[in-house]
Amino acid sequence: MTEQSLRAHSIIVEFSGLRALDNVSLHLNRGEILGLIGPNGSGKTTLINVLTGQVKPVSGTVTCDGEDLSALLPRHRALRGIMRSFQTVRLFHNLTVRENIEVAAIAKGLSRKQAGRAADQLLEEFSLFHQRFELASALNYGDERRVEIARALAASPKYLLLDEPAAGMNEEESSMLMEILARLPQERNLGIIIIDHDMPLIMRLCHRLQAIAQGKTIGEGGVDEVRRLPAVIEAYLGADALEHDADYMKATPHA
Ligand SMILES: Nc1ncnc2c1ncn2[C@@H]1O[C@H](COP(=O)(O)OP(=O)(O)OP(=O)(O)O)[C@@H](O)[C@H]1O
Ligand SMILES: [Mg+2]
Repeated sequence: MTEQSLRAHSIIVEFSGLRALDNVSLHLNRGEILGLIGPNGSGKTTLINVLTGQVKPVSGTVTCDGEDLSALLPRHRALRGIMRSFQTVRLFHNLTVRENIEVAAIAKGLSRKQAGRAADQLLEEFSLFHQRFELASALNYGDERRVEIARALAASPKYLLLDEPAAGMNEEESSMLMEILARLPQERNLGIIIIDHDMPLIMRLCHRLQAIAQGKTIGEGGVDEVRRLPAVIEAYLGADALEHDADYMKATPHA
């Protein structure tokens, strides 16, 4: 049996001399949520861009369920089941909420009718059904971000990569989103990577964490284990934080 995982192996990325990723490896299994954490500019988004093919590494490979994807364009990786959201929302604003989702299902090869059914199911799941005929441009920010994720799921991905999906949401919107995300891995046999700066949120949601700083992995493993690593605390909060009982250490990890 081929392994069911999305993997980055020894990735190096450079942007005009700046080494954004320095020999980083990552694996994501289906059915789990991996939190990718690290300070601003540490390389988190770049690593997602490497997995999806938006950024080409200087060296290193990306494999999906054992297949080498390194030479494939983003749209071909999407067809293999790797979907993402962006740090900023990118919906079709002149289409309705339902159409935004249908389009993704049709692109994946469903008929119009099947796409409509898949869209309605996702709209229910994401508490967006009552807004299905509204133009995407009329949505508030939190709803827009949920539509974006529902749209990514319409293509029935195996792996979903979420770059700060809760950024800019209020507390209610963000906890609604987290409730939905928490169910997805089991329901859809889906692997999720989530990047977020909200540590309590990350610790409740994730099964496993990988921490990066300055383009290098500084810790990986169980949530409880990684959050206690001195290198992680230091990277996040500065060396002084090691002396204090930092707030983010008090969050309750995933059961
Ligand atoms: N397209 C690009 N061209 C040049 N430099 C880039 C590019 N994309 C990222 N960088 C640089 O690479 C480094 C890593 O950036 P990246 O966006 O991956 O960080 P991040 O961990 O996602 O940060 P944040 O938490 O702020 O989103 C930064 O120094 C950034 O300025
Ligand atoms: Mg980023």
